[in-house]
Amino acid sequence: MRRGLVLFAALLLGVALAQGDVDPREEAKRQKELLLSTAGILPTELVVMQGEELFHRKGPSGKTMAECDFGLGKGVLEGAAARLPRYFLDTNRVEDLDSRIVTCMTRVQGFKPEEVKRDEVVAVAFYIASKSTGHKIQVRLLFPEERELYALGEKLFWARSGARDVGCATCHVSYVGRRAGVLPYADVLGKDKSWTHWPAYRYSNDQTWTMQDRIRACYGNIAHPQPALYSQPILALELYLAYHANGAVVEEWPAFVR
Ligand code: HEC
Repeated sequence: MRRGLVLFAALLLGVALAQGDVDPREEAKRQKELLLSTAGILPTELVVMQGEELFHRKGPSGKTMAECDFGLGKGVLEGAAARLPRYFLDTNRVEDLDSRIVTCMTRVQGFKPEEVKRDEVVAVAFYIASKSTGHKIQVRLLFPEERELYALGEKLFWARSGARDVGCATCHVSYVGRRAGVLPYADVLGKDKSWTHWPAYRYSNDQTWTMQDRIRACYGNIAHPQPALYSQPILALELYLAYHANGAVVEEWPAFVR
């Protein structure tokens, strides 16, 4: 009897382990289909619609975001997000999707910086990113500002710090992970092309994240103070990762992930 119970417990544990082992991509696909069949619409689509409304809302200056240049000319959104981050002459700095939306809201639409709401920026990012589904990532290092930021991103990515002496590469480059005896989570520079997984809706905690949120959360993993949203370290790491994803096709933006 005892023996039977132990066996049963071992069996249950085996099932639990097997469930923890499910390929996260496969599991996300399953969750997505489940949601679609019950709700008929995905949270990503709702946020994209919300972003589209905000895009066409007039700011204090009377202008909508169609007056803004996201890199390919005023109001051109098709494929624009797949080419970010990039250097912008009008601000004289490299901007990613999030920061360019903030620039648009403040410089063109006339919002005060403190009036810019993060959830609105994310919704607009979802909408603009949706116009790059099917496009190839094409990020260049043409301007000295881009090359400098890339170099900073590279430095930050390979740096190790803290009591545990870890950095991004410890968890995210498969050969480093193997050498250190740590399971690699995602090979963010290699075949995974993680860049194209964000912005995304995370069904596990019902959150909408851009790449900025993803990187900031990972800074938490290394017990390192999180750099602020829109700050140089975040932009630098984004440029570094985006450049390594060059040529990858965006399967679906915004993505639907765990
Ligand atoms: C302690 C391990 C660890 C460290 C260190 C770490 N991360 Fe992560 N990272 C994770 C985990 C776990 C995930 C979630 C993996 C998943 O869902 O497949 C993740 C996810 C990511 C993703 C998304 C991958 C994808 O395919 O969607 C990116 C990009 C990323 N991290 C970047 C970074 C950067 C940049 C740093 C350094 C600032 C960093 N990470 C440091 C553990 C780590």
